[in-house]
Amino acid sequence: MQLIKCLVIVQLSLLLVEESLAGRDFYKILNVKKSANTNEVKKAYRRLAKELHPDKNKDDPDASTKFQDLGAAYEVLSNPDKRKTYDRCGEECLKKEGMMDHGGDPFSSFFGDFGFNFGGDGQQQDAPRGADIVMDLYVSLEELYSGNFVEIVRNKPVTKPASGTRKCNCRQEMVTRNLGPGRFQMIQQTVCDECPNVKLVNEERTLEIEVEQGMVDGQETRFVAEGEPHIDGEPGDLIVRVQQMPHPRFLRKNDDLYTNVTISLQDALVGFSMEVKHLDGHLVPVTREKVTWPGARIRKKGEGMPNFENNNLTGNLYITFDVEFPKKDLTEEDKEALKKILDQSSINRIYNGL
Ligand SMILES: *[C@@H]1O[C@H](CO)[C@@H](O)[C@H](O)[C@H]1NC(C)=O
Ligand SMILES: *[C@@H]1O[C@H](CO)[C@@H](O)[C@H](O)[C@H]1NC(C)=O
Repeated sequence: MQLIKCLVIVQLSLLLVEESLAGRDFYKILNVKKSANTNEVKKAYRRLAKELHPDKNKDDPDASTKFQDLGAAYEVLSNPDKRKTYDRCGEECLKKEGMMDHGGDPFSSFFGDFGFNFGGDGQQQDAPRGADIVMDLYVSLEELYSGNFVEIVRNKPVTKPASGTRKCNCRQEMVTRNLGPGRFQMIQQTVCDECPNVKLVNEERTLEIEVEQGMVDGQETRFVAEGEPHIDGEPGDLIVRVQQMPHPRFLRKNDDLYTNVTISLQDALVGFSMEVKHLDGHLVPVTREKVTWPGARIRKKGEGMPNFENNNLTGNLYITFDVEFPKKDLTEEDKEALKKILDQSSINRIYNGL
């Protein structure tokens, strides 16, 4: 009995050792497949970071650990070199090679990259505030269909300590001066505190902006505190406004897509089979056996844009056909043959088409 107990303990401790050697499973932490591309990693991180932030999970004693695991997982899987090393030999290996820069510290500035505002909305109403910046982000229909991350490199002014002091928190105060027996004077004067001096220094920062699937033209995303700084108060916000660029083949109306296809008169009459290349490159098969007249429109269910609120819902794709007539002249023989085949009596309906 004693021996068995002993064995069990040895086995258990072996298991523990193995686990710590292998390190954390970053794929599991981010809940992405091994084959996930960088966009998918960023997307998963961005979602989970909002969900798992310790400020939002004050009841969970493990919140901070979970958040740090998430940071480490993102740091490694979003970087091709680190990811390759990690895939080869795990987290321990990365640490040995000194490749864990941030040590997964989720509170390091590196996490400013997505413009998160983790501090909550503790903005004071009357504190001075820098201006908001509105930025138009021109995106293609392809990006709105599949989703993408856009990197914005900018010079962000950051406050840094400087030598000396400066006047701050200035306000008006009434002071009383004694001018002699029974005589006072009250005057108003500006009183300031002495604060450590600061200066604004430009730092090059990359902001990652997610173009989410199904976003619509004109949609705005607010990045709190990423706008213009204010030396005595809060920075303004950055507002990114989506501008959908026109597409050469598709027209979007809400979640539906429209496209035009020109077919030959021959195909229009005898039927055809073709494929329409979609925004992400997948092919939509189109087959017709019946006659297709100019202006005919078919609907491909679910081949439209993903809905922004619920990506599981998709619009439709409408294909309108145009028929190209042959330019060559027909012989008398061909004409007779065609007449026989089509067997269509003359219509010659004259009407006002307007
Ligand atoms: C399809 O053709 C119609 C008529 O010529 C045009 O108004 C429409 O913009 C075209 N659609 C696309 C997606 O090019
Ligand atoms: C979308 O579909 C997935 C899997 O089919 C499901 O887990 C998820 O809850 C759905 N999302 C919504 C918003 O319905």
